[in-house]
Amino acid sequence: MAYIPFARKYRPKFFREVIGQEAPVRILKNAIKNNRVAHAYLFAGPRGVGKTTIARILAKALNCKNPVEGEPCGECENCREIDKGIFPDLIEMDAASNRGIDDIRSLKEAVNYKPIKGKHKVYIIDEAHMLTKEAFNALLKTLEEPPPNTTFVLCTTEYDKIIPTILSRCQRIIFSKVPKKKVIEYMKKICEQEGLECKEDALELLAVASEGCMRDAASLLDQASVYGEGKVTKEIVETFLGILSKETVRKFLKHLLESEVDEALSFLREISEKGYNLIRFWESLGEEIRKAILVKSLQNPEKLVEDWQDYEEFKKYPLEALLYVENIVNRGNQEARTREPLWAYELAVIKTKIVKDILPVSQLGKVVVREDSKQEVKEEKSPPKAVPEIKEEIKEEKEEKIPSVEEIIRSVEKRTLRKALEEAKHEERDGKVVFKLDENHIKNFKKELEALKKLYPFLEFEAEVKKKSSSQSEAKLF
Ligand SMILES: Nc1ncnc2c1ncn2[C@@H]1O[C@H](COP(=O)(O)OP(=O)(O)OP(=O)(O)O)[C@@H](O)[C@H]1O
Ligand SMILES: [Mg+2]
Ligand SMILES: [Zn+2]
Repeated sequence: MAYIPFARKYRPKFFREVIGQEAPVRILKNAIKNNRVAHAYLFAGPRGVGKTTIARILAKALNCKNPVEGEPCGECENCREIDKGIFPDLIEMDAASNRGIDDIRSLKEAVNYKPIKGKHKVYIIDEAHMLTKEAFNALLKTLEEPPPNTTFVLCTTEYDKIIPTILSRCQRIIFSKVPKKKVIEYMKKICEQEGLECKEDALELLAVASEGCMRDAASLLDQASVYGEGKVTKEIVETFLGILSKETVRKFLKHLLESEVDEALSFLREISEKGYNLIRFWESLGEEIRKAILVKSLQNPEKLVEDWQDYEEFKKYPLEALLYVENIVNRGNQEARTREPLWAYELAVIKTKIVKDILPVSQLGKVVVREDSKQEVKEEKSPPKAVPEIKEEIKEEKEEKIPSVEEIIRSVEKRTLRKALEEAKHEERDGKVVFKLDENHIKNFKKELEALKKLYPFLEFEAEVKKKSSSQSEAKLF
């Protein structure tokens, strides 16, 4: 048998099979049951949510020989002909390609003839907003004095473009996007019938990508199942849609928060070369950081963040750092609109280079004060008086605003030392910022370093000793 795409194969044939669209279905079924079908309807709503489908079911219900409670039987000759698309009293016109006055004129002529086979003529005018002004005006008269047993269904995705005179002559029925949960159910049913192996999280991804458009949902599922050779797993959908898993996005986010610029940049390059959708990636980065911020700041994050446990690992970063990165990500989004997205994102990544420098210091103010116990242990050798002194100093510092590591380096007067500090690696350890300096520098600048430590008790300087036997260096505490 010839292959029929899912979107066509699973087009609902009865009102009861339509997913979502409860209001339109109810209005139409009741109108049929009570014999109060209007002469003209305007079906307005997003693409692929069932406008044409429901218009056809309406035509079927109006011409069915044995309708039940407003539903067509689906078996009589008329029903079957409508399903096949060969019923003479259902006329479908695509206004996108027949938008002129002549098209409407010939339609108007046909309107004057009685139904050929059925009881009720139905005209479906798809993409009605594409009609020209003249065509609209010509149609107006027909809508005003329609022959009996004739119904027009104007379908449009652009409600605003329908002129008011037409609007006022139609009964308006508004279609909406289908909620994600229902889209998933719909895809599940298709999978069952097709014998496809599907995973809930994979369908979830497809549902999100379809944005409530059922046609997209059906055809994305169709393509993903071909791509995965009958299996629809999360990994397959991710690769097929060109999106990255949340875990991967979070790993990238960690690079940003740790100022691991090199890693972040090469990751960006890699996914760009592999053809992933960068814009979508950056959007999900925005979502991930948003959730991380919520989990960090809320007492009960479970109310707002469904998968809040996944974001616990971000609690260790100061809120300022998270907010700073969020800001950069957000700006990256804006800049990607006016320039090559990859460049905009690369620049954003580079801006995170200073996150780590702001980070330890803003943390340190708290850490040092909080870690009094540790300090006391250390201070055992020195006179006990020193402890409160240090505390005082730090408190004052904290209130005044603790300078960043960069600011401290900049404040060093001796040029050679300043340069050495600039070039030295530094890391955060036990609430201290530890600089790794050349052994000679440690010796030569002993006095200056002591002074710095006195000024900023959270600083530590370590000598890096080069072993003669191996190239590996070994750290020796200073
Ligand atoms: N509410 C729905 N329930 C089930 N399937 C649907 C629904 N809406 C759309 N579909 C699926 O999407 C396909 C397209 O639907 P339809 O042609 O009715 O959309 P439309 O609203 O007319 O879109 P457009 O504005 O693009 O013409 C159908 O063949 C069907 O598979
Ligand atoms: Mg349509
Ligand atoms: Zn029938």
